[in-house]
Amino acid sequence: MNAEEKEYLDFLRVKAHSLLKEKRVKHVEGVEALSAAMARVYGEDEYSARLAAMFHDCAKKMSLSEQLEVCEKYGYTPDEYERESESLLHSKAGALIARYEYIVPAEVSEAIKWHTTGKENMTKLEKIIYLADMIEPTRDFPGVDEIRREAARDLDSAVIMALERTIDHCRERGQSVHPNSVKALEFLKKGRKQ
Ligand SMILES: [Fe+2]
Ligand SMILES: [Fe+2]
Repeated sequence: MNAEEKEYLDFLRVKAHSLLKEKRVKHVEGVEALSAAMARVYGEDEYSARLAAMFHDCAKKMSLSEQLEVCEKYGYTPDEYERESESLLHSKAGALIARYEYIVPAEVSEAIKWHTTGKENMTKLEKIIYLADMIEPTRDFPGVDEIRREAARDLDSAVIMALERTIDHCRERGQSVHPNSVKALEFLKKGRKQ
């Protein structure tokens, strides 16, 4: 990252954090720091990783109807799961806000878009944001340290662990699992066998 990029990130960070509830700032800071570290380890662009991380939850404070309005304004049609869940739709609305109101590059917006469910054939940046969101230092759940260790060693293997954990967790609680998470997991596992 050059000095100009760093300065621009410092400028945008203030705006990005102003969109968050106070209590979520620490989480977003954790995602940014971890995404930047993983970007360095795995040869991804640190500027893009920081940008995606700082905006990834920018629609989290909105109500479902506000998120739906954002989607309609920018021409995204939510699927049947997203229409009923602000916790799923915040990633789609957030990606649109980042793209059209803060003019982040398309690949950064995509990483925001897929940070909750994952998807088939994720880019490296998408994997980093997905994973950092789940295991940044303030996260605490059984098995998180195991995923953290794996994230320092093998990105795909850590994403597989994170997806499996999320899918199991949803099923245990009787919640529906978004098909994109299942597809993301199948895709990564298939790639490993070849
Ligand atoms: Fe999120
Ligand atoms: Fe998050």
